[in-house]
Amino acid sequence: MEHFWNRWKSEYITTLREFHRQTGNNCNLQTIQVGDVVQVQDDKLPKNRWNIAVVDKLITGNDGFTRAAIIRTRAGRTSRPIVKLYPLEIQTNINNLDDKNDDTSNSTERLTRVLPKREASVGARENIKKWTTQKRACKLHFESAPLKIVQASRQYMYDDTGNEYLDCIGNISHVGHCHPHVTRAGQDQLGTLVASTGYLNEKSVEYAKRMIETLPEKLCVCFMVNSGSEANDLAVRLCRSYTGHHDVMVIDHAFHGNVSVIADLSPFKWQKLGLEKKDWVHVVPFPDTYRGKYREDSVNPGLLYANEARNIIQSAHEKKRKIAAFLCEPMMVTAGVVEYPPHFLSQTFRAVHEAGGLCIIDEVNTGLGRTGDHFWAFQSQ
Ligand SMILES: Cc1ncc(COP(=O)(O)O)c(C=O)c1O
Repeated sequence: MEHFWNRWKSEYITTLREFHRQTGNNCNLQTIQVGDVVQVQDDKLPKNRWNIAVVDKLITGNDGFTRAAIIRTRAGRTSRPIVKLYPLEIQTNINNLDDKNDDTSNSTERLTRVLPKREASVGARENIKKWTTQKRACKLHFESAPLKIVQASRQYMYDDTGNEYLDCIGNISHVGHCHPHVTRAGQDQLGTLVASTGYLNEKSVEYAKRMIETLPEKLCVCFMVNSGSEANDLAVRLCRSYTGHHDVMVIDHAFHGNVSVIADLSPFKWQKLGLEKKDWVHVVPFPDTYRGKYREDSVNPGLLYANEARNIIQSAHEKKRKIAAFLCEPMMVTAGVVEYPPHFLSQTFRAVHEAGGLCIIDEVNTGLGRTGDHFWAFQSQ
């Protein structure tokens, strides 16, 4: 293996750099340009673990020579000597090079460099295009020209040709992509113990304690699960077991996860798939004062929507059905990041409690400080 890496470094990697050197007619000609994707030589690491970086800025001395560059790696921005940077898969336009004696042409123009798409990347994009024309479970962002994202750092993501994108979708990484603190903690734990339940472990206890500190006093029991879907599933089971009731009330357009019971409790999911609502599922109108049944100009729209919930509970009772739980987000996120009108949640909770049911708050999207003022979004209700 060592032999392979030695040859890779001494033959392939240095060839890349030499190629770029030789294709310029003097050092003044910049062989590395802003936006190039480069590997950064690090003598302390095996070559296969050298960082990939994007060149942000070239540092040119008073003598006109460029000897260093500001680069951006997943750990942030730093500067490196040009000789330590190895441009990847970048070609000089050979046809233009043959024209060395043409002094009339501008040297930088003559050496117009192109970033050829890797064969694998082109193949992947073709496959993705094919998939987009077929029916499939996985939906891509930007279907007509999907991105192949290979790396990310903070609020930025990078595609396979080094383009940088500001990530306005985010989804899961609420402290940015690859936050060094989070990455290190994950790496440390993976190198220490991949824990499974059923054993005593200091870390789990400390984690539970710190979670409980963020919650009101009564919420003092933690049960670790693997995903939001599992958490909601467990919460529904607990409510059913505690109340002895079976039915669950949710808000229209909500999404709460992918496991079977929870998919049944996600109108967003079954409506899209054209499936029927289950008898034990009760759907409250979406309390949206912009598009919904009661608008901003209604008198106390929150109360009007809460009354809708009350009526739904009532009609369930008339059918001899009882509500075990009301499952909701503290604000609707998947359905369009919509805040509830004042009093909707508190009054709906009151109606559910009066009917002997319990309330489940799904903080998968909103928790961990993501809404600003509070650690959990329900605390601002
Ligand atoms: C509000 C909400 N609840 C639950 C889930 C399911 O979480 P997970 O994907 O971890 O199962 C999601 C996923 O996006 C969600 O948005």
